[in-house]
Amino acid sequence: MSPMPLNTPLPTHVTLVDVGPRDGLQNEAQPVAAADKVALVHRLQDAGLREIEVTSYVSPKWVPQMADAAEVMAGIRRPAGVRHSVLTPNMKGFEGALAARADEVVIFAAASEAFSQRNINCSIAESIERFRPVAEAARAHGMKVRAAVSCALGCPYQGEVPIAAVDDVVQRLLDIGSDHIGIADTIGVGTAQRVQRVMEAAMKRVPLAELSGHFHDTYGQALTNIYACLELGIHTFDASVAGLGGCPYAKGATGNVATEDVVYLLHGLGIATGIDLDKLVDAAAFISGALGRKPVSRVANALLAKRQNT
Ligand code: HMG
Ligand code: MG
Repeated sequence: MSPMPLNTPLPTHVTLVDVGPRDGLQNEAQPVAAADKVALVHRLQDAGLREIEVTSYVSPKWVPQMADAAEVMAGIRRPAGVRHSVLTPNMKGFEGALAARADEVVIFAAASEAFSQRNINCSIAESIERFRPVAEAARAHGMKVRAAVSCALGCPYQGEVPIAAVDDVVQRLLDIGSDHIGIADTIGVGTAQRVQRVMEAAMKRVPLAELSGHFHDTYGQALTNIYACLELGIHTFDASVAGLGGCPYAKGATGNVATEDVVYLLHGLGIATGIDLDKLVDAAAFISGALGRKPVSRVANALLAKRQNT
């Protein structure tokens, strides 16, 4: 086991990528109006988010909730300085992303064969070959390529995932020209020491500025896992407003860690995010209201209750 890094200072600034409109809403069984998705993106950018994962150009048969990708992308304001990303599993998805002038495409490979088959209907090796032209075309058009490694801390179908398997996919994604690598705990099973070991391996291949963590909170470990990453100097994380979401092909997995909870932690540590927590809570209340429920975020609920009492 690797030693705990005791004296590494925590980062002074953290970048949060809000994946709520995509990873969050993709899992909703009830219809969500494109206008509400657009309004959510606007509220997130008004709250100071500078990176937003807006939607997915995937098969509408596989993920019906993302069938309105073109409408949502056409409806959002595109202020300078905000990066809007979209998921693209293949060249058909890339064509949609290009037509919508997305700033960044997200390709997503799994560290587990079983999950790769269930999520994108092909092996890991086949998926890399599908992503290769996507990455090439994106770079040729000046779009950034972000790659997610799913099931890096465990798989709903195969269970344990060896660090070597994560490492192998990271390298293959770098080899096809990915600019950024996100290590994803798709089903939220990881714990802090294991997360550090996976990240330490990734840090040998990926510069810190282009490495991020994507933690689902199924087992309540996401904030602790983010802290474990901060201890290594990692300073980019995905999070989902109101704690929305999950993956339709990872049954039982809950949403990503709530963006509000991460912002509260970071500001408490004196780490800048550029995000206005009150406005973010408004965004959480808005989308949760549209879905007819309360936010999953502990911080959002605490602050909303405090507002009512004052
Ligand atoms: P397939 O059925 O093997 O694909 O699906 P195909 O090439 O045989 O095409 C079948 C049909 O889909 C055809 O239509 C294609 O035109 C259409 P038909 O002729 O039957 O009418 N099609 C598409 N339509 C729209 N956009 C496209 C597209 N591609 C094909 N891009 C495929 C393969 C990859 C398409 C499918 O499996 C798929 O869409 N999977 C996406 C699953 C997904 O979105 N999962 C959730 C996102 S991943 C995630 O959440 C994890 C992440 O958050 C990180 C983490 O937490 O781990 C990123
Ligand atoms: Mg996810």
